[in-house]
Order: sequence, then structure tokens, then C-alpha cells
Amino acid sequence: MQARSWRFGLTTFLCIGVAGYALWAYGGGVQRVPVHPDMAAVFDDHRVLITVHAVGASLALLLGPFQFLDRLRARAPRLHRWLGYAYLLLGVGVGGTAGVLLSPYSFGGLVSHLGFGLLGCLWLLTGLMAVVAAKRRRFEEHRLWMLRNFALALAAVTLRFYLPASVISGLPFENVYPAIAWLCWVPNLIFVEWFLKKSTSAA
Ligand code: HEM
Repeated sequence: MQARSWRFGLTTFLCIGVAGYALWAYGGGVQRVPVHPDMAAVFDDHRVLITVHAVGASLALLLGPFQFLDRLRARAPRLHRWLGYAYLLLGVGVGGTAGVLLSPYSFGGLVSHLGFGLLGCLWLLTGLMAVVAAKRRRFEEHRLWMLRNFALALAAVTLRFYLPASVISGLPFENVYPAIAWLCWVPNLIFVEWFLKKSTSAA
């Protein structure tokens, strides 16, 4: 990806927006935005977990787009490696583990628990696969796993489009939120698999 491309610009803008919001709203250990009372109670009971999750996962969003810049990888491979470790260990590893631990307390019952739980497990698994491929110097495989991993990180961005849409729709939040727990990531994964298939068959 090129630094001047609209894809990089839009992705970076959305990631900075969502991460900035998360860090401001939860980063200091104080919840600054009103949420559903049931969610507020959970965040109050698990303050450390939600703070670790918001800070760790935000780091992944802030670093992720830069890892796909062709020029940065070619000109500063060491920087790419160090940012990659920070992304995978602190962002995905720490933020994702905290997300999995939060999933049984998520709003909306079992469907939400399973949606967020599976998202977190796949985030960790695709991150692990990316590390293993890089260690084996299989860089094309590494790129594919990182694309899948980052598509899952963007669940935080798509979720923030669905939330206001659910409020505008007027549908009961307790019915809509479990669907959002799946809709925020399954289409991202389908899209990235379609994109990868299209680009390999065109090559
Ligand atoms: C991709 C794996 C992720 C998983 C499994 C996950 C899981 C969760 C869960 C279970 C909750 C609690 C929701 C509830 O109580 O109903 C939550 C909330 C939250 N997550 Fe994540 N999350 C992920 C990615 C991210 C990312 C990348 C960010 C970066 C900004 C993020 C930021 C937040 C924030 C700020 C909240 C608080 C609720 C809100 O303001 O919407 N999460 N997450």
C-alpha cells in the first residue's frame, strides 16, 4: 500500500479516530462516556480489564496501517519488525486477551459472548500464524495472515458505525447488540478472503 493512496488515508483516519476515542473514553481508568447501565456496571466491575483492553487494542489500530506501507517495509525493515512486535504482542496479545476475558461479560447474552469470544480467539490465532510465518521467513504467508488479523482489528471501526445506526433505527438495543457482536467482524473477514482470492487469481 502507498502512503498517498486513498485506502491508506481513509483507514488511518478511521483507526486514529476510533483509537483516539477509546483512549480518551477509557484510557485513564475512568469511563468518560455514558453507555447502557448494564455495560457501565460491567466496566465498573472490570475497570482494569477494560482499560488494558482499550489501551492495548488501540495501539494495534494506531500501528496497523503503517505496517502495510510498501516503502516503510522496504526502506526501514527493522522499524517494520519492531512496530510489528509492538502491534502483535502489546496490541493483539494484550488487548486481544483482555477482549476474550471480557467477552463472557459482554452485553446481550450468549450470542454476544460467543461473537466477541470467537472474534478475540481468531484475532489471537491469526496474529500467532503471522509470527510463525515471519519466523520461518515465509513473508507472503506472513502478509496474508496480517491482512486477516488487521481486518479483524477493524471490527472496532465497523462496530462504531453500527452503534449509531442501531440508535437511529429505534430497534431495542438488547436485540441489536448481539447481532452487532457478529456483524462487526464476519463481513470484514469475508471481504478480506474475497480480496485475497481476487488478487491471487489476477496474479
Ligand atoms: C478484535 C478483537 C476484540 C475483541 C474480542 C473485543 C472485545 C470487547 C468486548 C467483549 C467488549 C465489552 C463489550 C460489552 O460489554 O458488551 C469490548 C469493549 C470495548 N472495546 Fe473491544 N474488542 C476487540 C477489539 C477492539 C479494538 C481494536 C479496540 C480499539 C479501539 C477496542 C476498544 C473497545 C472499547 C473502547 C470498548 C468499550 C465499549 C465501547 O466504548 O464500545 N476493542 N471489546
